[in-house]
This record gives sequence, structure tokens and C-alpha cells, in this order.
Amino acid sequence: MKPGDTLMKHYLQFKDFRAEEYAYLLERTRIIKTRFKNYEKYQPLVDRTLAMIFEKASTRTRVSFEAGMYQMGGSVVHLTTGDSQLGRAEPIEDSARVISRMVDLVMIRTYEQAKLEAFAAHSRVPVINGLTNEYHPCQILADIFTFIEHRGSIQGKVVAWVGDGNNMANTWLQAADILGFTLHVSTPGGYEIDPAVAGVQNPGCLKLFKSPAAACAGAHLVTTDVWTSMGYEAENEARRAAFADWCVDVQMMQLAQPDALFMHCLPAHRGEEVAAEVIDGPQSVVWDEAENRMHVQKALMEYLLIGRVG
Ligand code: CP
Ligand code: NVA
Repeated sequence: MKPGDTLMKHYLQFKDFRAEEYAYLLERTRIIKTRFKNYEKYQPLVDRTLAMIFEKASTRTRVSFEAGMYQMGGSVVHLTTGDSQLGRAEPIEDSARVISRMVDLVMIRTYEQAKLEAFAAHSRVPVINGLTNEYHPCQILADIFTFIEHRGSIQGKVVAWVGDGNNMANTWLQAADILGFTLHVSTPGGYEIDPAVAGVQNPGCLKLFKSPAAACAGAHLVTTDVWTSMGYEAENEARRAAFADWCVDVQMMQLAQPDALFMHCLPAHRGEEVAAEVIDGPQSVVWDEAENRMHVQKALMEYLLIGRVG
């Protein structure tokens, strides 16, 4: 997009944007975050409204979008399945037609990606994925920004994913493909990542490992996630048994680069997918990672609503 160009775009998965758009967004994030830290008012979204639809629980996604939108001068409407007609089987297409006539932007957290896509197909305004079973692009955008803040460019680096081949893993794989880094993945049998879900162009960006320790060897970033994602709670016991050896611990971190970072999208379960010494230790940047959700999403909302600025 050129300055002032407001051709409508959605952000439904990480691969919806090109590397050059990410370079722009990450630089805008840096500027927007610096202004926020200096208490400089920046309100380009006055009179704009964001609708946030949650069909699953959230702390970070809600607070970061809501606070970010208010800081930029806009306002928000918060809907959940329980307090709207979404929970009473109103078709998603009808909900999209109605909601998008009244607001300027929609963020949705739901189950199947297909539901998000159906909403977007019937929306008059841009739609953002706030997490689906398949992807979590806003989180990976924050993670990449956090990596760059601490270590510089992620191009050519190695990111180790230890754990479930879930929405986070799929999105890391899309990011590796687009931004030119390598993703090492180790999952228990039966919980593998499916590269077809990510739809990568460059298969060389993915390396699979049976052992989580081997996946961590030489990594610049080690990251993991809960063993049981939202919507999969019925599998909790089976997963607890299957994932027992996929806890990121101090030994695994010692195999990574000496200055490797640790990330987790949160919420975390200490003693399950990560040892307390790791998530609360000096290599962990999880609190920066959480805060950066707000800064990257402010840049994203600015981009989707007013295009390129400056
Ligand atoms: N990481 C993340 O999306 O957190 P919430 O589930 O709290 O929104
Ligand atoms: N994979 C997790 C991420 C939570 C932010 C889930 O989908 O529940």
C-alpha cells in the first residue's frame, strides 16, 4: 500500500502479508512504542471503532487490543459467544454483514479458521485473527518484534519449537518461510506439525527432530506453548502423558546458543511445558513479548485502517 491507500486488507494468517510489509509494520511498531514510552499522545484512530469477538477466553489479546485502540483515540465493542446472538446460532455470515456495517475493524478469536474466513468474506471492514485453532498471527508478530528488539534481525537465525504442533507452531512456520529463518520442531508422536496447514513455499525452513534437546541445539530462540490448547481440553490426560518429555528445562537451554532467548505466548504452566527456572530466568523475555502484543497491534490497526503513514 502507498501512503493514503486504504484498499481493504484482512489479517487472517501470517502469510497474508509479504516480507516488505512486515519490515514496514515492525518499523512502525518501533515508532509507536517509543512514542508511548515517552507519553506522547498519538491518536490517528479518533472516531474509529473496533469490535472484538471472543469465542474463547483471553487476557492478553483483549487487554492489548482494547488498550491499544483507546490509546489511538478509538473505541471498542466487546462481544462473547455467551452474551451475543453468536451463541444462539445466528449464522456467522449474517453476524459479519451486520457488525461490519457499524464498526471500522473486527478482531475475532474463534475455533476453526474456516469460521474466521467466512466472517471475513462477508465483512465490509478489515478482519484480524485474534487466534484460531490453526493460527495466531498477532502473537508471532509480537514475538518477531521482541526478538528484533533484543537481538536484531531474525533472518538466518534458528528458532526451536518444543511441544505441540498447534496454532503457534503453524504460525511460526509461516513466519520462517516469509522472513527467512529456520524452524526446528520437536513434537511427541501424534502431535506433529502439518506443513500443509502452514502452506510453506520453502520446505527448507522446517527441520524436524525426534528429541526436543536436539531441536534446541544451536537455536537463537527456544519457544514452547501449553500442552493442551483451548478447545482440546477433552484430550488433557492423554496429552499430559504424551508431552512429559517436552518440558523446556535448563539443560535444553544450555544446548542452545549462549545468548539464546526463551519465549512463551502465555498463559504458561510452570513444571509442564516449561521449567520455572527457564521462564523466570535471565534468558526469558516473556513479559516484553506480552507487552509487545499491544505495540504491534497498534501498528497493525493503523495499517489496516489508514494505510501507510509517513
Ligand atoms: N497469548 C495470548 O494470546 O494470550 P491470551 O489468551 O490471554 O489472549
Ligand atoms: N495454543 C494456545 C495459545 C493460547 C494463547 C491455545 O490455542 O490455547
